[in-house]
Amino acid sequence: MRVLGIETSCDETAAAVYDSERGLLAHRLYSQVELHAEYGGVVPELASRDHIRKLLPIVDEVLSESNSGPDDIDGIAYTAGPGLIGALMVGTSFGRSLAWSWGKPAVAVHHMEGHLLAPMLEDNPPPFPFVALLVSGGHSQLVDVRGVGDYRLMGESVDDAAGEAFDKTAKLLDLPYPGGPALSSLAESGRPDRYRFPRPMTDRPGLDMSFSGLKTFALNTLKDAIAQHGDPLPEQIRADIALAFEQALVETLAIKCRRAIRESGHQRLILAGGVSANTRLRSHMREIMEKEQIEVRYPRLEFCTDNGAMIAYAGWQRLRKGAHENLSFRPKPRWPLNE
Ligand code: KG4
Ligand code: ZN
Repeated sequence: MRVLGIETSCDETAAAVYDSERGLLAHRLYSQVELHAEYGGVVPELASRDHIRKLLPIVDEVLSESNSGPDDIDGIAYTAGPGLIGALMVGTSFGRSLAWSWGKPAVAVHHMEGHLLAPMLEDNPPPFPFVALLVSGGHSQLVDVRGVGDYRLMGESVDDAAGEAFDKTAKLLDLPYPGGPALSSLAESGRPDRYRFPRPMTDRPGLDMSFSGLKTFALNTLKDAIAQHGDPLPEQIRADIALAFEQALVETLAIKCRRAIRESGHQRLILAGGVSANTRLRSHMREIMEKEQIEVRYPRLEFCTDNGAMIAYAGWQRLRKGAHENLSFRPKPRWPLNE
């Protein structure tokens, strides 16, 4: 079975062709980073308009790279939510219309299910069951995964998502959008233990997370540092603060993952979503979980952040079970994973 996947939920236009026999045949991505950079964050209307401009050429490219014509494609998968409504409408209406004109089934894919299944694109996919830590710009979730479509939410962020906390704290540090990677590279030159941030919600039981306090803590730390060192802050102090923030966030996620693993009894942890591209998170999680004899897996870097391959793969998993949507399917900006 061969599936065309389409992703337009936020600021990346992406498409891919996945073949169940041969694996990933082609994938392309166009990032809108430059478009939104001057505004310091994603401008939804600009995102939608740019998806309209870029989607058709990108789909053309993956079709020709994979030598696929309409007859070779068995179904079309598109991200239907969660995400920005205008952006989702582009991929949904495009994917749905193309499927109709080709007489093929179309499936609506949940963006976070795409992230969750992204590690399956690797040569040696992790077997079920496992705990998945999904950390993106809009979500931080711990999910008990027993199979494709069998998801139980164990805990989630009650306020800012992990990626959102990265982005907002990066802004406070005058770093460019997208903040996560920028903050992380500034933190590389930080000196450990110069500042200490709290590990929110780790002193009480439960798997929910809260990261908005870290951003506030960063703001107060910056104010104190400016009072002490002057404005603008020396680069070294900014790096020290970035490192302290990153360490706190990563260690908090690790504490929650260890709890989730113990509660589930599973032997495997999957990291996915944009923040799983974070080097410190990947290495710290491996280190902590090794002590517990827990295997840690994450997608290759380009499949941590948004991409079309994960949507094509998740779509194939649904299509092979006979799922498809009728013409009236609407994008869902909010959409719980287990629905
Ligand atoms: O999954 P994703 O590409 O889009 C959403 O579904 O939201 O995640 C984007 C988020 C952003 O908040 C971005 O700052 C963060 O992932 N991110 C990172 C890194 N790369 C992307 N955060 C920390 N370190 C990184 N290396
Ligand atoms: Zn995403």
